[in-house]
Amino acid sequence: MPAVAVVGMQWGDEGKGKVIDLLSESAGHIARAQGGNNAGHTVVVSDKEYRFHLLPSGILYPHTKCYIGGGTVIDLKSLLGELETLRRYGIDFKNRLFISPYAHIIFPYHRLLDELSETVHSIGTTKRGIGPCYIDKAARVGLRIADLIYQDTFADKLAKTLHLKNRELVKMYGQPPLDIEDVLTEYRTYAAEIVPFIAPVEEMLYRASQNGEKILYEGAQGSLLDVTFGTYPYVTSSCTIAGGIPSGLGVGPTNINRVVGVAKAYTTRVGNGPFATEFSQDEMQFFPDHIAAREIGVTTGRKRRIGWFDVPMLRHSIHLNGADSLAIMKLDILDELDELKICVGYQIGSQKIRNFPATIEELAAVQPIYETLDGWKSSIGAIRSYGALPHAARAYVRRIEELCEADVSLISVGPRRDQTLWLDRFFGEELK
Ligand code: GDP
Ligand code: IMO
Ligand code: MG
Repeated sequence: MPAVAVVGMQWGDEGKGKVIDLLSESAGHIARAQGGNNAGHTVVVSDKEYRFHLLPSGILYPHTKCYIGGGTVIDLKSLLGELETLRRYGIDFKNRLFISPYAHIIFPYHRLLDELSETVHSIGTTKRGIGPCYIDKAARVGLRIADLIYQDTFADKLAKTLHLKNRELVKMYGQPPLDIEDVLTEYRTYAAEIVPFIAPVEEMLYRASQNGEKILYEGAQGSLLDVTFGTYPYVTSSCTIAGGIPSGLGVGPTNINRVVGVAKAYTTRVGNGPFATEFSQDEMQFFPDHIAAREIGVTTGRKRRIGWFDVPMLRHSIHLNGADSLAIMKLDILDELDELKICVGYQIGSQKIRNFPATIEELAAVQPIYETLDGWKSSIGAIRSYGALPHAARAYVRRIEELCEADVSLISVGPRRDQTLWLDRFFGEELK
């Protein structure tokens, strides 16, 4: 029985939330392995829009069990806010949400340090404290979800780490130190609400897998934001590729049977860093505006940068993830364009670049080589089968398949669940 990893192939915001929600209808378990509330995953059901930051996007179905894995970093206040929103929507999550004791906790000093470090070396982060929390994890001074259970040792550990962090705040940034009692009081109230959700996530997923139950692994961010293989240093601080799932959830790599790579029919990026196929101002004029295209960041409200579909990037991501198939999202956003460009390769001067650049200097220097295809100039949002798509839209998808040497298993033509064309290639009957 397949366990499917759903991962972003570009710079995040590809539409992973929609794909996870679709596949959750027939999956029992949905798990997040990495990242935190820097993620923003949107699910649209009829006219209602749900936005998830840390909660798995499969939580809307009453039959699912949802897990937040040991590789994540958790902002407790933000998570409690998400749970409050679920309550308001009347979604019952009792006995359906499980948090690993191994996950690390984001503290106010992480958010502060994220914001302050942006003034010195701007990555364009979400300022959610993600990087500083992972720094503390690697430096072995972080506090974990398990620490919430033991109040006295929690206070001792926090005091030691806060001493270090206050030195950084005061000496490096000239900021006032944080008061331990304030932080303790705040976090004790969160602890009371969070502790009931702590569970042996790793063992639970092992059992589910042994019983042949369907599991979805929900990637956050995108492959080009991976801390090792992304466009470093303009990346996030976790492993965002499929290989990060086993280490972030404590499951064996053989537990992942399929990897679905989610990609937009074009490219977007929020935050800084090189973007080879980014639109010129002229090109931007022909594209729907950011609101119509739903290209405003879910977490920070920033406008996303937009550009053409980038095959060298996709091939790189497909290989890094071992993606079995692609979900091509937001094809409808290209409806009005007279012609579409696909970047089929890179060159610097007259020299063709064979492999995706490992440095941002090289990526910033490449000139994209484009191929131009006809637009379809009609609305495809109401189309429900691949065969009914306009000829030019099918040609566009087929060309992506050909150039990427990958099969497309799903095409999305709108944000809602029903605006989905299934190509029946790799999900297999069991998962639909
Ligand atoms: P994620 O972070 O990968 O889950 O993606 P986001 O939720 O941050 O951004 C994707 C945006 O595009 C959201 O507003 C979705 O509702 C929207 N979306 C997803 N698929 C489609 C689609 O096929 N067409 C259109 N028009 N919008 C889509
Ligand atoms: P989802 O899961 C898009 C980007 C930030 C910034 C860089 C580092 O919704 O696809 P961080 O706060 O993580 O230290 O920021 O990573 N970033 C995302 N961009 N989608 C996301 O998540 C992102 N999460 C982080 O904009 O460039
Ligand atoms: Mg997003």
